[in-house]
Amino acid sequence: MRLHLSTWQEVEAYLDRSRAILVPIGSTEQHGPNGLLGTDALCPEIIAEHAAKDEDILVGPTLNVGCAQHHLGFAGSMTLRPSTMISVMMDWVASLEQHGFERIYWFNGHGGNVATIEAAFAEVYSKRSFSLSHPNSDLRLRLQNWWRLPSVAEFCAKVFPIGEGSHVTASEVAVTYFAYPEHIKRVEMSPKIAPSGEFRDAEHYRGQFPDGRIGSDPSQASPEIGKQIVEVAAAALAKDFRAFADDI
Ligand code: NI
Repeated sequence: MRLHLSTWQEVEAYLDRSRAILVPIGSTEQHGPNGLLGTDALCPEIIAEHAAKDEDILVGPTLNVGCAQHHLGFAGSMTLRPSTMISVMMDWVASLEQHGFERIYWFNGHGGNVATIEAAFAEVYSKRSFSLSHPNSDLRLRLQNWWRLPSVAEFCAKVFPIGEGSHVTASEVAVTYFAYPEHIKRVEMSPKIAPSGEFRDAEHYRGQFPDGRIGSDPSQASPEIGKQIVEVAAAALAKDFRAFADDI
């Protein structure tokens, strides 16, 4: 069930059954020569929608621009400052809490968001601690990165033993190719496997990683493998979300 494809009456009825919502969160940033700019927002969205086909999971709107300042050297990349993203997340939480949601599961697709998501959680909890004004609500926030779900990393390592990398991974590109086969790009990678290393700002990143990839060969991605990854991840997600939703 998707929030933006539901009526308010349907959401009200869902709240009678559950106080938990899943919010996909990602980024709009370059993903090398064959990856879509939306990859990091699309992956959690695709996996969440797949999980919600068989389970009673309400999937909120995708927060699809995150913290990606280091990608701004590449056309189309967009970012929020960490402070802006914290404010946005706090307002999303406050809106949902107002309707009675008490378990907000942030399902993330971008490693660069992790520190800021955790800082946003600390802000939300700090506000509650200072005001002590929510005696009747039991608000809990959870961060889960899709590639960290149980058995997903092992599965990705098995299907892509070489060249999975850390940015523009073969796995994330495969997931988007499964959902959007009309946007598959066939591109020869040069070098075959991209360099690895650290980065600072956008100029430094572009200098270190000229085509945008880090450590990966995403030309291995295929929709068939993407389908398998989505199935493994969706099953793990449904279980993890249910445990969070039902925890009292
Ligand atoms: Ni990515």
